[in-house]
Amino acid sequence: MAYDHAEPSDAPAPIQERQPMGDKDRTQKRFSEFDLQGKVFTVTGGGRGLGLTMAEALVEAGAQVHCLDRLSEPENEFIQAQNRANPTYGGSLHYHCMDVRDAENVAHTMSHIADMNGRLDGLLAAAGINHVDNAFGHTQADVNEVLSINYTGLFTCATEAAKQMMKYQCPGSILLVSSISGFMANKGMCAPVYNSSKAAVIQLTRSLAMEWGQLEKTGKKGIRVNCLCPGHVCTAMVEEIFARDPETKKIWESENMLGRLGRPDEFRGAALYLLSNASSFMTGAALVIDGGHTAW
Ligand SMILES: NC(=O)c1ccc[n+]([C@@H]2O[C@H](COP(=O)([O-])OP(=O)(O)OC[C@H]3O[C@@H](n4cnc5c(N)ncnc54)[C@H](O)[C@@H]3O)[C@@H](O)[C@H]2O)c1
Repeated sequence: MAYDHAEPSDAPAPIQERQPMGDKDRTQKRFSEFDLQGKVFTVTGGGRGLGLTMAEALVEAGAQVHCLDRLSEPENEFIQAQNRANPTYGGSLHYHCMDVRDAENVAHTMSHIADMNGRLDGLLAAAGINHVDNAFGHTQADVNEVLSINYTGLFTCATEAAKQMMKYQCPGSILLVSSISGFMANKGMCAPVYNSSKAAVIQLTRSLAMEWGQLEKTGKKGIRVNCLCPGHVCTAMVEEIFARDPETKKIWESENMLGRLGRPDEFRGAALYLLSNASSFMTGAALVIDGGHTAW
């Protein structure tokens, strides 16, 4: 089901209106490399949490953003974000029910969105699940479920988005959401399969960046591929972990240099940077934002 579109809101005026109006010969645009007006993005896991918060940042920069999530209807926070979207920014937020494990539907959804707009400028792959238990507590079905979403589903979304970006000659950017759990074992949480699924995403990032960086040689536009490695962020996924074991919260807060968990809105700038031309020389990289968790 597709959810459209935003009511006018009392969001602040677009940044261009708030800038001082100086000399007419000088540009009124500042940091235009962050401008996403006219661009189209898909965001998996955009029904709530980190995916949705980062999707909203892209909307504020002017993009048309399509959130793709397995929730049959998006959570209330999606509706609120849609209502906040200010049409004068040029951006808009849309919802489609899609499970990243359904390869046929992923291909259909990506091509439908690209065909409707004659372009696709990028993907933010944030859909993911955790399975908190020790290694002996994982059945083969548990392992397969985590990998089918965090790795195979993400791989399918990246390749199907890239096909459309190449078809429409869009030299865009793909951002895969990994985690600091991709390169460290997490004190306070046993999740061996989740952790290794996130490690696989970091390696996939480098491999896809290598394959898709220089497509100009084939007549297609190159695509940059990076991954984001958040530390511990307060979302529904993490609240579920704390509900099972409240000690985990204390451990995680004490394990980073800021002494607290992150907030989803602290990833808005990173999403905009990595999906816009502002990061045009960055590919194959893993950006860590973790309050210093992995720095000591
Ligand atoms: N919260 C953290 O501390 C943290 C830290 C590092 C990385 N991450 C990663 O960030 C991403 C977002 O996590 P979050 O904390 O916002 O969690 P969340 O559970 O709030 O959001 C995840 C979203 O993914 C969707 N999803 C799950 N399986 C799906 C599927 N098969 N198809 C489509 N959508 C699916 C869920 O419905 C949900 O809306 C995940 O990949 C997670 O591993 C989170």
